[in-house]
Amino acid sequence: MTTPVTVRPVTAQIENSIRTIGGISTTDLAKQFDTPLYIMDVATVRNNCRHYTDSLKALNVDYTVAYAGKAGMCFKLLNLLAEEGLGTDVVSGGEIHTVLQTNIDRDKIYFHGNNKSKKELEMAIEAGIRIVIDNAYELQLIDSITKETGKQAQLLIRLKPEIEAHTHEHIQTGQIESKFGVSKAELIPMIQTILDAPNLQFLGIHGHIGSQIFDPIPYEKLAHLMMDYLIKIKQDTQAPVLELNLGGGIGIPYIEADKPPVVSDVITQMVTILKDGCAQANIPLPRIIVEPGRSIVATAGATLYSAGALKSIPVKSGTLNYVFVDGGMADNLRYALYKSEYTFEVANKADHPATTQYTIAGKFCESGDKLGENIPLPQVESGDLVLVYGTGAYNYAMASHYNLFPYLAMVGIEDGVADLWIERETYEDLNTHFKK
Ligand code: LLP
Repeated sequence: MTTPVTVRPVTAQIENSIRTIGGISTTDLAKQFDTPLYIMDVATVRNNCRHYTDSLKALNVDYTVAYAGKAGMCFKLLNLLAEEGLGTDVVSGGEIHTVLQTNIDRDKIYFHGNNKSKKELEMAIEAGIRIVIDNAYELQLIDSITKETGKQAQLLIRLKPEIEAHTHEHIQTGQIESKFGVSKAELIPMIQTILDAPNLQFLGIHGHIGSQIFDPIPYEKLAHLMMDYLIKIKQDTQAPVLELNLGGGIGIPYIEADKPPVVSDVITQMVTILKDGCAQANIPLPRIIVEPGRSIVATAGATLYSAGALKSIPVKSGTLNYVFVDGGMADNLRYALYKSEYTFEVANKADHPATTQYTIAGKFCESGDKLGENIPLPQVESGDLVLVYGTGAYNYAMASHYNLFPYLAMVGIEDGVADLWIERETYEDLNTHFKK
């Protein structure tokens, strides 16, 4: 049985006013691992995985849940996902190199990207990883690599679905102007090229409509569109479609007011459309692939900061209260980039009533280095612990070394045990590649 998705990790509790996650108090975590610190709640990751795997199992279809590794990856996380039966999608040589050192099943790895290099494609072909083709140039490169090496390549084609999904414009991907995927007109000729090449195997098609999507309707549209293309491919090429990859993008609640769709509802709806469509058209249902990133890890994560300096500035509308934390845009770029909202808490005053509106700012040399504005919190004092929820996706993954700030440590917590997943970088680490 899975638990519904919430802003906080499923294990979050309060003991003597202190927030605990996975059975460990945040004050102990700060003492043991220092701040700022990424916390990952293992029970929440497992719960989020099972929203997908349980609903696909119940639908009695062949499936792969391929975690979108761009949301964030490290060995411990990938091995945890392998335990849950997940694969991954990868988008770079770095991600391929990383995934290949884990227990992730190679048959469940999908290589994406709009400008894969020859080197990266060689790595993927050598490792037998499925490649999701984005454009004609890439197909040529793959063809020439397989001719040189005599190796086979297993290919899907990313179709631009042209379905509008309401989300931040930076994370919309399905529209015609998008840099990702091939147009509908290009699809059949490209399949034909693959079918004509002896070393290329056509596995299927892929469609992804965007990220942090709350409306289930675009997913229904995607399933109908893909169904139309399964029929068209059969009619025009007679090639069997073995795999149908429906992408990721299901949204998560960053704040209480966010109402994302229920994962199992979206999955069931899409698969039912495809099952019915395939039965009617007398086409075997391909293996269904989904690629969730955020909805697997975001709500499992939280970032623990210490409050340092405070500033109260008289302004026209009253007082602007700043809390400065010991991290900021280098470990969480999402507010600076998208104005993404988060839920904040003073972790050592977790049940104290909110009395004051704060702007939470980081320590980096940029005015836009903020994590949230107009955040109601109890009175914050220097030394308090500030916890930000929902940071499990696209935080570590998009971190930077701005101001030569070392990457944070990450701990995975399960049943009261904190396991160091990623070591905190040292100043020496920062200098490793600097020539003297
Ligand atoms: N599949 C493909 C082909 C994708 O491009 C993406 C995300 C996913 C799956 C996973 O989407 P998810 O389930 O995580 O929504 N940096 C942005 C998000 C960029 C998403 C890019 N592609 C952010 O921080 O919100």
